[in-house]
This record gives sequence, C-alpha cells and structure tokens, in this order.
Amino acid sequence: MRRRAAALPAAVTILAATGAVGACGGPPAVPEAHFMPIPMSDVIPAPLEARPAPGADFHIEPSTVIAAARSAEVRPTADWLAALLRRGTGFPLPVVAPGSRGSGVISLQLGDAGAALGGEGYTLSVSPSEVRIRANAGAGLFHGAQTLRQLLPAAIETTHAAGPWVVEGGTIVDHPRYPWRAAMLDVARHFFSVADVERYVDELALYKVNVLELHLSDDQGWRIAITSWPRLTTVGGSTAVGGGPGGYFTQAQYREIVAYAASRYITIVPEIDMPGHVNAALASYGELSCDGVAPPLYTGIDVGFSSLCVGRPITMRFVDAVIAELAALTPGPYLSIGGDEAQSTPPSEYASFIAEAARAVSSHGKVPVGWAEIAAARLPPDAVAVYWNIDDAGSSARQAAERGLRVVLAPANHCYLDQKYDPSTVLGLTWAGPISVEQSYDWEPTDYAIPAGRIEGVEAPLWSETLTTMSDIEQMAFPRLPGIAEIGWSPPSTHDWARYRVRLAAQAPRWEAMGIDFDRASGVPWPQT
Ligand code: ACM
Repeated sequence: MRRRAAALPAAVTILAATGAVGACGGPPAVPEAHFMPIPMSDVIPAPLEARPAPGADFHIEPSTVIAAARSAEVRPTADWLAALLRRGTGFPLPVVAPGSRGSGVISLQLGDAGAALGGEGYTLSVSPSEVRIRANAGAGLFHGAQTLRQLLPAAIETTHAAGPWVVEGGTIVDHPRYPWRAAMLDVARHFFSVADVERYVDELALYKVNVLELHLSDDQGWRIAITSWPRLTTVGGSTAVGGGPGGYFTQAQYREIVAYAASRYITIVPEIDMPGHVNAALASYGELSCDGVAPPLYTGIDVGFSSLCVGRPITMRFVDAVIAELAALTPGPYLSIGGDEAQSTPPSEYASFIAEAARAVSSHGKVPVGWAEIAAARLPPDAVAVYWNIDDAGSSARQAAERGLRVVLAPANHCYLDQKYDPSTVLGLTWAGPISVEQSYDWEPTDYAIPAGRIEGVEAPLWSETLTTMSDIEQMAFPRLPGIAEIGWSPPSTHDWARYRVRLAAQAPRWEAMGIDFDRASGVPWPQT
C-alpha cells in the first residue's frame, strides 16, 4: 500500500473549529512543529539572495498594522495578506495608509525596487519594527507576500492559533529565473469543479507558479461552453473516463476562474486540443469527422485514435468559432491549440492544420501555444512550444527553438505529476515513470541543448485519467510540484537535492495545517506527525 499523509491533525482541527481550550482544561495541543520559526533558507522556491540578520526578528502582535496604498496593484495583495494573517492570528491587522508611524508595521511598497527585479521580483526586509516588501509591480508584491507567508510558522494557516508569530530578521532579494512557471490541469479526462480549480490556484500561488494551463477538451470530454456549438458540452461534456457524469464550465464559471487566478497573479492558458484528442467534439458533431458519422462518446484512456477532418471548410469554421469565443473570454495573452499525439491525422495535413489554427489564434489577438509537435508547422515567431515527449529525446524542443519559437520544458519523465511515485502508488500512470520526488527535481532546463535565450520556462502537467477528487490532485502534485516551481524560479546555484529534500520536508507542517493531502513519498525526511 502507498503511504498516505494523515488528514489534518486532530489538534489543529479542534483549534480551528473553536479556538477553545483542550478537554483537560489546558491549551490545545497544536503540534510543536507548527509554531517553529522558519529560516529564510527554507523558503521554496529558494530566493536569489537571503541574508538573515540574527536578533532582528519581527513579531506580529495584536497592535501590528499593514500599511499599503489604495491602488489596484497594492491594495488587493494587502487585503489578501491581511485576511490570511487575521484568520491565523485572530489579530485585527487593519490595512492603513502608507507612512503610518509606530512599530509593528508590515508595509507593501510599490516602485523603486530596481530594474533588475523586473515585474515579478521583490525585496523583503525584516527588522524588529517593520516587515517591508517592495516591488516594481503588483506581481512582485504578491510574490513577496507569499514569501512572508512561508516565513511564518505553519500554524498561520489555521484559525486563531496562539502564536508567537516570529519572522526571522534579515533581507531577501528575489526575482524569477524564467517568466513561465506553469502547472497544467486536465479537466477533460475527469472534470473538476470551479472550487477545486480555485483551490489548486491557491496552492500554486504559494510556490510562485504564474501560469495555469487548463486542458479543456480531450477524447473523453469537452469542458467549456461554446455558445455557437452548444452540443460540445451538452453531448461532449456529458461523460468522463470510466463513464461518470462529466461536466463543463459555463462561460461565466470560466470567467470566474480566470479572474480568481488573476487575483493570484496566475495567467490562465486555455487549451483546446486538436486536431487529435477530439472524440468528444466528433461525438457532438459528426460533420467534423471525415466519414460524417458521430462516433460514440469515449470513456477509456487510449490516445491517438481521433482526428478532425482537415481541409473541410466546416472544420475551420468550427476551429475559428471556438477560438474566437475562448479568446474573447480570456484576458491573458495565450491560447493553446494542443497539437499533441495526432496519430490519426496524416502528417502533411497536420502541418497545414496547425498553421491554420495558429493563424486563427493570432487573428483573435492571442499568442499560439501548443505541445512541441506543433514545431512541425509554420508558426508565428511569438508562438510557445511545450516540450513533453521524452521519446524524441528533445528533438521537438530543438526543432521549435531552431524555428525561433519560445520553448517551455515539461519533460514527461521529470515534470508529469500524474506519474506514480513508485510502483506501489495507487493513483497515476507509469508510462513516463515512476517519478520519485528526487527524479522530479533531478533535471535542468538547459539539459536539452536549447539555446538559453529560447527557454521560456517550465511546466508541470497533471493529467487526470486516474484522478477524480481534489485529494487525488493534491496527492500527485504534492510534494513534486514545488520542485518544478523551484527549477523555474530559483538560480541554478541553489539546486541541491541533499538540501532541497530537507527544505521540502519542512513544508509538511504547512500542508498539514492547510489540509493538503500530500503523499509522504520516499526520499524525503518527513517530520513525524
Ligand atoms: C501529452 O502528454 N500528450 C502532451
């Protein structure tokens, strides 16, 4: 049997529910580990520079205030931080105007952080009187606030715990190595609710992931309402792997997810996979397949057997209508056309189809994204290719780079969160694995002979053939996701498995306090619970 994380420890549950004293009249027994101070060196992703200053610790007290301007780039992060800290500490923590005097201030300051920090970098200075987060843009302030969160004891994630709330003194200067630090969630093989996706968004934000690709269509399900082709969801969204009821996002729900992610500085990249992986679309509209006959809905887990009928005017009318509606719903710059595993599309037709679909994406004002197979087609120079297929030993990634595309690295044997940790893992697949925690961390984006200037970042896909619940998502993403996020954010000089496994183990109390159902996978010195 696979080891499973214990659920939220009972002591924390008692505290979270009531803040009351324990049954014997004493204070409730919150695990000591949940109040341990966190050294700056434990933050994941590892910051560019962290200089602790012994003796300069900051204490969050009942009188502490949060100082922030009312602007749209500052105030939402101040409110987010205040809500988190109020819940954890039970203190009032009012958000006040900048410049308020007195000790005990957490200030969020925009501007003058230095050009080197870019839009996502920040500095965080901790002294006995102030925690100051400074950044050039809202994204940097938010990432700095996530760092402050990680510097607080894990019990900050519960409700009205007792403290003390000590932040180690010193300074962090931090910015990401790559601009694209993505996760991908497959809501097509099994459907996940808006609440599940938003919970995952919050978990990604903790590790400074800034892109979430939503795999919205596949053979087993079409998950986004398209007004002009309604049967895509009423028929194509009606089932899932294993024959369950499926489901789909209305356009209003999709907009809600996009807005929620944006509030966490995460860009949603919607993916409609084509010309393969389209059985749900063909089952909805038989005229999209070359024999004109709608196949039955599919609930298995094979790949490569379905294709849009390339060259028919109706096919491109369909593609353009879907892309137009999705582009209009999506404020972010990207839209993915998938493009992987089109084994049932003749290669010459594949190239012409991808070129045409990419043109449609561009014509609706978005940047085309696709799995790296799309590099076989002519594409606009701003297109992004996501490398995954380890069977081609990186050649699709190199082809994409040679064609001038930006390349995101998601090598399946390191980044695929759906692969089992070891043969005894209950959930997940094995074709690219198993992938231990060490294996998921043991790689470098520069390993694939791609010019450094072409590397846009990293991505951690989570395919859902075997996953049906939020708990399943968490068991596969945690603990491997933070390592991929670190590879995308942190300088290579910090990459060190022997140290990383200890830093990763130190996240466990936080996940317990957050109720994240992580896998106590082997190779990591997890604390006893
Ligand atoms: C993929 O795993 N087919 C992108």
